[in-house]
Amino acid sequence: MIEIGPSEVRHRSIGEGTNIGALCDIGEGVEIGRECTLKSFCVIHEGCKIGDRTIISHNVIIEEDCVIGNDSFIGNGCILRPGTKIGNNCVIGHLTVFEGVCSIGDRTLIHAQCHITKGAIIEEDVFIAPLFVGANDKRMSHNRRHVIPFVIEPYKIKKGARIAIGVSVLPGVVIGSNALVGVGAVVSKDVPDNAIVYGIPARIKGEVPEEERL
Ligand SMILES: CC(C)(COP(=O)(O)OP(=O)(O)OC[C@H]1O[C@@H](n2cnc3c(N)ncnc32)[C@H](O)[C@@H]1OP(=O)(O)O)[C@@H](O)C(=O)NCCC(=O)NCCS
Repeated sequence: MIEIGPSEVRHRSIGEGTNIGALCDIGEGVEIGRECTLKSFCVIHEGCKIGDRTIISHNVIIEEDCVIGNDSFIGNGCILRPGTKIGNNCVIGHLTVFEGVCSIGDRTLIHAQCHITKGAIIEEDVFIAPLFVGANDKRMSHNRRHVIPFVIEPYKIKKGARIAIGVSVLPGVVIGSNALVGVGAVVSKDVPDNAIVYGIPARIKGEVPEEERL
């Protein structure tokens, strides 16, 4: 049975067993799979696709053409700007913001209050602790684009990497697979696979033991 709250729902496809809470606004062409839960006050814009059994908590805003896979969880108050892609079995903590055209791999966990910039690529099995911030515009071209070309340089976090609380990542940086970035690091250069780094700027301090690598 499909239970629909007093939402403004237009030309959308909603799978069997999906529950939609009160005052959700679901845009045209949205596809939501089976047995999902959408809690109250969510807004899903045109063209989004959500897989099966995914839970979207209260007050989530999902803008145009976002894709969320199966069995994922999106926490309260998250914002997904247009073109954000989140895989299967992902957990996204409360108040995390995705600036769009970014992709998050399967089984990745991003904690609360993280800021994922436009174009970021975060692969599968990544762990990101709270208060992560990434940058994509090194020269901060705001209001100066006639003198500073606006070039988005997305960062990439590869499979199985672990990022501790309060880490900042600079534009264009690649964090290697299974790497571990310690608390409070500012990552200004690429991090090799399996490296442990921390500090400002982050420096290599060790290697992730083989048994901890995925
Ligand atoms: C990077 C990390 C794994 C290192 O752990 P460790 O190998 O056990 O290192 P130690 O605690 O033995 O510390 C070694 C030295 O590095 C320093 N150090 C450790 N982490 C540091 C960091 N992030 N930044 C600066 N210095 C750090 C320690 O003070 C210590 O210095 P000393 O030799 O002068 O005494 C750990 O500090 C860390 O950041 N863990 C992540 C915790 C986290 O965010 N979890 C998420 C929960 S939601």
